Amino acid sequence: MKILIKNIKEAGLKCDALILPVLEKEGIALYKAIDESMGGVLGKISREFKGKHNEVSLLHTYGKIKPEKLLLIGLGKKKELTREKLRQAGGKAVSYLRDLGVKEIALSTRLISMLRLKPSDFIEGGLLSDYRFLNYKEEKDHKAVKHMCVISSKDLTKEIKYAEVTASSVLFARGLINTPSNDMTPALLFKAAKALKAKNVSVRVIDGKEAQRLGMGAYLSVARGSEEPPKFIVVSYAAKKTRPVVLIGKSITFDSGGISLKPAEGMEKMKYDMAGGAAVLGVIKAAAELGLPLCIVGLLPATENLPGGSASKPGDVVRAIEGKTIEIISTDAEGRMTIADALGYAKRFKPRAVIDIATLTGACSIALGGEAIALMGNDEGLMEKLRHAGEETGERLWRMPLFDEYKEYIKSDVADIKNSSGKQGALVTAGYFLKEFAGETPWAHLDIAGTAWTDKDKPYTPKGATGVGVRLLLEFLREFF
Ligand code: BES
Ligand code: MN
Ligand code: ZN
Repeated sequence: MKILIKNIKEAGLKCDALILPVLEKEGIALYKAIDESMGGVLGKISREFKGKHNEVSLLHTYGKIKPEKLLLIGLGKKKELTREKLRQAGGKAVSYLRDLGVKEIALSTRLISMLRLKPSDFIEGGLLSDYRFLNYKEEKDHKAVKHMCVISSKDLTKEIKYAEVTASSVLFARGLINTPSNDMTPALLFKAAKALKAKNVSVRVIDGKEAQRLGMGAYLSVARGSEEPPKFIVVSYAAKKTRPVVLIGKSITFDSGGISLKPAEGMEKMKYDMAGGAAVLGVIKAAAELGLPLCIVGLLPATENLPGGSASKPGDVVRAIEGKTIEIISTDAEGRMTIADALGYAKRFKPRAVIDIATLTGACSIALGGEAIALMGNDEGLMEKLRHAGEETGERLWRMPLFDEYKEYIKSDVADIKNSSGKQGALVTAGYFLKEFAGETPWAHLDIAGTAWTDKDKPYTPKGATGVGVRLLLEFLREFF
């Protein structure tokens, strides 16, 4: 969907459908001119159409005005309207029209601007909703909306450009995640990363041999069970000479559990275990396209987790990059192994902050469902900034504790630490494990196991990969660095 901006009378714009946002209980007074040309039909419809949040009503204009159809979209009560509700309404309106096969749409921004809210939030929701993963379908669905003409007397160029770049980076991340693991191996993920090379963006890889030399024994222990060679991908965006923010994205291209094999049911979904890595690539893509004055290093310790003949076994002890030994209790607790070495490696960049984003625990999705990312870390300021970015973007975070007492849970009898302590506190013991490798670096951990995938359509997120984390981290970086 391409966006155009025009300063023109709504009734005079030729298009398939014009979107008119409406507040609950406030009626359609704002659209009086259209209503009069339509012989008062808008006033009449408001008996059935209440303007409740995400409520829609479609009217044909029978040639009385230039737009062929009008789509009323409810924004709910004025007092309760938020950026997120606006985004959802945009998603609902655009996907409704998309499903009708409508190609040329327009948006009236008067109401949103009058409320001192940003039309770009509504548009962002629309852009995010206009996505289907069809790469493997013979029969393509050709319903995508072609153009949205934004009717505005204000210059919205800049905010719309930001929404377009962020949304397209979210869709880019979704595409990587939805791609089945046979076409998204570590090598192919590296290839996708290389495609981001541009001004200020460089991409390189640490292969198995080099990882060995660097002492990444934890990361390599995960890769042993697979025929696919591991690829520790390093992507950097340097538009400014400062210490970087390091973003670590969990990049298990398929998680079978390894020797601690997962149950068969639902295992196909474990292609999304690289959603953290995809989010990091999305952030870097957007930062580069927007030319943000930042320095970011993205680390994607990519590998499969399979139970091949050389796979790591429960009870094995391995040595992480800074020398700590880890007893593998479960080969299914593989994400923390890869991130532990990435945290160790990150220190050489003398980062201002390190944030890891990972589909780390099933317990995260049990605790918070699909409604929040679990947040842990060792730096209050950093966590508060992330939390704030979560409120702004609707990718909400919920804080979980890293009490010292959790150290006991992951004490090993034979090594310095063990990688799992079973079900009790699984969300926070995973976080605590990572904390032991973050050391003094200001660090935050985002568990996106519950939010990176949705089994049902949401207003601006069709089912499948959500691309969560891209908008959150971009907002965080833009606001604070
Ligand atoms: N990738 C999984 C976590 C996961 C589960 C993400 C379901 C999304 C949906 C992770 O590697 C894992 O298997 N974690 C284990 C940890 C346990 C062995 C301590 C888990 O959550 O069961
Ligand atoms: Mn696992
Ligand atoms: Zn995993």
